Amino acid sequence: MTTLDVTWPRQVGPLVLRPPSSRDVDQVLAWRNHPDVTRWLLRTVVEPDAFREKWLASVDDPADHSVVADLDGVVVGTGSLSVHDGEGQIQGDVWRGAEGSLGYLIDPAYAGRGFATAIARALLDVGFHDLGLHRVTAGCFAANAASWRVMEKLGMRREQHGVQDSWHAELGWLDGYTYAVLRSEWAATP
Ligand SMILES: CC(C)(COP(=O)(O)OP(=O)(O)OC[C@H]1O[C@@H](n2cnc3c(N)ncnc32)[C@H](O)[C@@H]1OP(=O)(O)O)[C@@H](O)C(=O)NCCC(=O)NCCS
Repeated sequence: MTTLDVTWPRQVGPLVLRPPSSRDVDQVLAWRNHPDVTRWLLRTVVEPDAFREKWLASVDDPADHSVVADLDGVVVGTGSLSVHDGEGQIQGDVWRGAEGSLGYLIDPAYAGRGFATAIARALLDVGFHDLGLHRVTAGCFAANAASWRVMEKLGMRREQHGVQDSWHAELGWLDGYTYAVLRSEWAATP
């Protein structure tokens, strides 16, 4: 299921989603370590060279559908959808790679305009329609209201409230939420 090709770029409202180029990564690095971005991330401040290497490697990884969001030539956000096996799949003979993990980041200068929701919606479409995934999950700190609001706007279900299950670099163990949506549920989304 994960071998099917995904076609990029995709126009999503005013945004163009596409796999990252080196110049795109430069633009992301201009805001990636901003305190408003790192505040509720598990992977807080990134080292630029390692970040660049990982993002450029994603282009050739069939299980990694990472994109940048371009608004009139400015990279205002990123999205990622990584594909992996569901529970027990590794032992079975059913098709592999049934689950996706979703993530998104927005340049604080462009927050609050619905861009994270648009990126996430497009990646859920890719996951369910192009890749045939069974289920997609996303997680965040419980305190990251803007992030879980994005998931709820998309109709994702809060499946777990993990008490102190998430390590925060400055605040220690904090509560986390896990959200999920199934392909059958996504298909029913208006
Ligand atoms: C979280 C983040 C992705 C949201 O991006 P965005 O483009 O502003 O999101 P959207 O505009 O699509 O939706 C945000 C929603 O959260 C709401 N919101 C924003 N801040 C909020 C807060 N402090 N409390 C409650 N709701 C909040 C917005 O009002 C909006 O909901 P609405 O459309 O019902 O009004 C962005 O702020 C970001 O990148 N933050 C830093 C990195 C991060 O935390 N990423 C997620 C990791 S799990």
